Amino acid sequence: MGKNRDVIIACDFASAEATYAFLDKFTEEKPFVKIGMELFYAEGPAIVREIKKRGHKIFLDLKLHDIPNTVKKAMRVLSNLDVDICNLHAGGSVDMMKAAIEGLTREDGTRPLLIAVTMLTSIDQTRMENDLWISKELPEVVMHYASNAKLAGLDGVVCSPLEAGKVHEVCGDEFLTVTPGIRFADGADGDQQRVTTPAKAKEIGSDFIVVGRPITAAEDPVAAYRRCVADFVG
Ligand code: C5P
Repeated sequence: MGKNRDVIIACDFASAEATYAFLDKFTEEKPFVKIGMELFYAEGPAIVREIKKRGHKIFLDLKLHDIPNTVKKAMRVLSNLDVDICNLHAGGSVDMMKAAIEGLTREDGTRPLLIAVTMLTSIDQTRMENDLWISKELPEVVMHYASNAKLAGLDGVVCSPLEAGKVHEVCGDEFLTVTPGIRFADGADGDQQRVTTPAKAKEIGSDFIVVGRPITAAEDPVAAYRRCVADFVG
């Protein structure tokens, strides 16, 4: 899979029925979808197989973090599920990320893209210092984790669109930035703190935007998706 800009819809639904009812609205296009923990834990691998069968690309957002051997074996399972992107926590160490790549790589040398979560956006400077006992500046830690991901051979990171330019500066243009926190200029921010529009994310250099509620909760989700594609992919 190459580096082509695309819009990924976060299918944050609680059941397969709700997810299929949503995807059935798309009669002309097959959007790239993100399946998160809630839906995967509720429905299991069957939901991945069914959405693949319907022709969608899948970002399976399970954020693995365990000892290298366990992550390697779990990644082998996800690779066999034929997802297009999966992810893990860079905080699990360079060795864990290398093991993940090994597990993902199929006998023919192909594998899904693998991206890392650096520091969760729910962790701020104070929590990082007090709870994690990391006494560095948060942006420095994010860039260090991104560099570790690159060193381990990963394809990119999940980051704020506002960090995408800096990640490319540090890790190179080919290193993917997958960015949530996207809102239309005339829409509500919801619980997202640092947001940007699809057009601005394109300008900053995001490779994939992950868009949930601005599409899933829109009156006309297909129109909202098309608006994202027009603004971001162009
Ligand atoms: O509805 P909304 O557009 O805010 O959805 C964004 C999606 O991206 C959700 O699935 C959320 O869990 C995910 N995400 C995020 N911020 C991060 C990492 C993931 O919003 N830092």
